[in-house]
Amino acid sequence: MSDSSNQQWGGRFSEGVDAFVARFTASIDFDRRLYRHDIQGSMAHARMLHNSGILSAEELSAIIGGLEGILKDIENDKIDWSIELEDIHMNIEARLTDRIGDAGKKLHTGRSRNDQVATDIRLWLRDEIDAIDIELARFQQGLLDLAERNADTIMPGFTHLQTAQPVTFGHHLMAWFEMMVRDRERLQDCRKRINVSPLGAAALAGTTYPIDREFTAKELGFDRPTRNSLDSVSDRDFAIEFCAAGALIMTHLSRMSEELVLWTSAQFNFIDLPDRFCTGSSIMPQKKNPDVPELVRGKTGRVNGHLVSLLTLMKSQPLAYNKDNQEDKEPLFDTVDTLKDCLRAFADMIPHIEAKRESMYEAARRGFSTATDLADYLVRKGMPFRDSHEVVGKAVAYGIEQNKDLSEMTLEELKVFSGTIEQDVFDVLTLEGSVAARNHIGGTAPGQVLKAVEVARSLIA
Ligand code: ARG
Repeated sequence: MSDSSNQQWGGRFSEGVDAFVARFTASIDFDRRLYRHDIQGSMAHARMLHNSGILSAEELSAIIGGLEGILKDIENDKIDWSIELEDIHMNIEARLTDRIGDAGKKLHTGRSRNDQVATDIRLWLRDEIDAIDIELARFQQGLLDLAERNADTIMPGFTHLQTAQPVTFGHHLMAWFEMMVRDRERLQDCRKRINVSPLGAAALAGTTYPIDREFTAKELGFDRPTRNSLDSVSDRDFAIEFCAAGALIMTHLSRMSEELVLWTSAQFNFIDLPDRFCTGSSIMPQKKNPDVPELVRGKTGRVNGHLVSLLTLMKSQPLAYNKDNQEDKEPLFDTVDTLKDCLRAFADMIPHIEAKRESMYEAARRGFSTATDLADYLVRKGMPFRDSHEVVGKAVAYGIEQNKDLSEMTLEELKVFSGTIEQDVFDVLTLEGSVAARNHIGGTAPGQVLKAVEVARSLIA
C-alpha cells in the first residue's frame, strides 16, 4: 500500500498498512450491521459533549445533521464501505468528516472505539433480545391454542422412548411451553446485565474530559453507567450469556424437532404437518419430509458452537481491550439470526399441527400403558406395591403371549392374577380412566391441562 496512512490513526506511522493486513484486520464486512446503534451512540455522545461545553451548539447540530444524513444514505444503500477504514466506527466517522468538515473530527473527543464498540453491541443485542422475545411469545401462544384443542387427546407417554403411561397430547405440549417460559426468563435476566452503559470508559482508563456518563446512559436507555472502565471495554460476558441462553433455546427446539420428526413417521403416525412446512423427495414419490424440524435440529449445532467460540475467545484474555474481541461479532450475529429464523419457523408451524387422535390412542393401547394403574388398583385393595408390581408383571407377560392389552382381558382372566380384582378394575384400565386419575397440579388429566393453559395465558399476557 502507498504511504497514505489511515486517516484516523495514521499519525505515528511511516507507511500505510499492507493490503492483506488491511483486509485481515478489518471488520467492516460484518460489523456494518451495527450502523444504526453506532449512530445512536454517537448522537448521545455528541449531546453529552455539548452539555459539557466541549462542542458548540453549531458543532452539535452539524454532527447530528451529518449523522442523520449518513443514516439515510446507509438505509438507501448509498454508502461505499471502505476496508481501509477498518470498521463501522471509523467508516461512519470518516463519512461524517467528509460531510461536515472539522466538527466531524471533534466527535471522537473523550471516546475510544473500545467503549464505542462495547456500547454498540449492547444496544444492538438489547433490541435483538426484544425481537426474539416477541417470537418466543408468538410460539407460546400457538402452543397454548394447540394444547387447549388437545387437552383430552390421549397418546402414550414415554420414558426411554418405551411406552410408559398414557398422557394427554395437551399435557405434552405444555411441557414444551414450560421450556419456553424458562428461556424467556433467561433472556430477560441476561438483558439486565446487557443494559448498562460502557460509554465514557474510553480506551481503558476513562478520559480527562469533563464527561457526564449518567447523561449518556440515560439518553441511550441504559439502567446506569458501568462501574469500572477496564471491565467496561473488555467485558463480553453478556454476549456469552446470551449465547448460552440461545444454545438452550436451540436445545429445546431440537428436542421438539426430534419429536416432530418421530411423530410424522409412518411408524408413529401421531401428527400431520401442513405440506407447506415439508418437502418431497426427487426420487421417492411417496415422501413428505419434515425438513423444517430437521433443519432446526441441525442448526442447534452451530449455535452451541458459537457459545464455545465465545468462551474460548475470552479465555485467558488479559485486561483490558484486545483485538481478539473483534471476533465476538460473527458468532453473536449468527446466533441471533439462527434463533430468529428457527423461532419464526416454529411459531408459524406449531399452531397448524394436526393430531391424529385415533392413531395416538391406538399406540397408547398397544403398550400396556395402564399397567401402573392396575398396580395402583391392587394397592387400593390392600396389596403392598412391590407385590402388586410383580402380579401386574405376570399379567403383562400373559398379555404379550395372548396379544391382548390389559383392558381387553376378561374379569376371569384378570382374577387368575389376583382374586381381589373386581368389575371396577375396568374403570382404571381404560386410557380415559388412567389420565383422568392423575388429577392434581402438573398432572395429565384433561381438566388439569385446561387449568394449566389458563394459568399460562395469564403468565404471558
Ligand atoms: N472493530 C473493533 C472491534 O470490533 C473496534 C474496536 C477497535 N479498537 C481498537 N483499539 N483497535 O472490536
